[in-house]
Amino acid sequence: PRYARITGTGSYLPPKRLSNAQLAEELAKSGVETSDEWIVERTGIRARHFADSDVASSDLALHASRAALEAAGIDATQIDLIIVATSTPDMVFPSTACLLQHKLGAPGGAAFDVQAVCSGFVYALTIADSMIRTGAASKALVIGAETFSRILDFKDRTTCVLFGDGAGAVVLEASDTPGILACELHADGRHADILCVPGNVSGGQILGDPLLKMDGQAVFKLAVGVLESVARSVLAKAGKTDADIDWLIPHQANIRIMQSTARKLKLSMDKVVVTVAEHGNTSAASIPLALDHAVKTGQIKKGDTLMLEGVGGGFTWGAVLVDY
Ligand code: ACO
Repeated sequence: PRYARITGTGSYLPPKRLSNAQLAEELAKSGVETSDEWIVERTGIRARHFADSDVASSDLALHASRAALEAAGIDATQIDLIIVATSTPDMVFPSTACLLQHKLGAPGGAAFDVQAVCSGFVYALTIADSMIRTGAASKALVIGAETFSRILDFKDRTTCVLFGDGAGAVVLEASDTPGILACELHADGRHADILCVPGNVSGGQILGDPLLKMDGQAVFKLAVGVLESVARSVLAKAGKTDADIDWLIPHQANIRIMQSTARKLKLSMDKVVVTVAEHGNTSAASIPLALDHAVKTGQIKKGDTLMLEGVGGGFTWGAVLVDY
């Protein structure tokens, strides 16, 4: 049988870092009141990175991709599939993946975007795994890249303090031994309105509101429930149990969602990769950013069993179990 295995990881944060105090000071100039204390207590976030206005998601993706390719020891020209998970593409079309492919100087393979908001990376990884196992691709770059700062309403303190920009990437290669052990994806479009950017471009104008709207408490309640159930389902598919998880790498939205999920899966927080404090919520980029961070710091070792879990707008959710 043919499997898919992660052979390299990489990530990139734009250099501009804003602590909560710095963001609060900026927001105060337009009469929006918040504090480091509120943000840390409710979310665990201490800082986030914002890309400069001339930097696009494909630029962040390029840095992360180059790092992942180097870690895997392969050249961009060997890549035959690029999937970018993003909700903040460079443009309506072509896809950010095509723009990235050009920047990498690697023409010819398949390239497309996946839009599943904060679940985007687990969606993209599941698709790449399927394409590799069926022989449709051999060496894939799977990236989560976001410039969420572009869609934030800086007059809405309930959302603008939560998000940041960044990118994370993995190289996924065909292998005789598994790698990706099991995947599962879900969506429930009935909850589209609890987390959305309802606007669009039409007739040469912006139609509707192009900024992020969220019902935080509704998202919180749904997230905790689905993260437990999809994790259990993926473990069962792979014939594993909670005790087999070496590292839980959840979408980094909020420390309290991660703590609840860990409690339900009977995992100590020592087994959860947490980067939300320094990254904020980077949507589709958060899981590969956290994965690369844990690889680089030596937390994750070869042979570890990793549970990657995403949840976000759509409403969407999913999990991927990995033998690293
Ligand atoms: N600074 C100061 N005060 C604030 C801020 C802020 N940035 N934002 C809200 N408040 C105030 C509110 O106005 C409210 O004041 P009031 O009581 O006088 O009306 C008070 O704080 C409490 O507001 P709540 O909305 O009840 O706060 P809650 O405890 O629910 O926390 C939060 C809000 C952090 C958004 C929480 O609901 C949450 O974490 N939800 C999950 C959503 C999430 O993480 N989404 C990420 C995207 S989705 C995803 O990635 C899965």
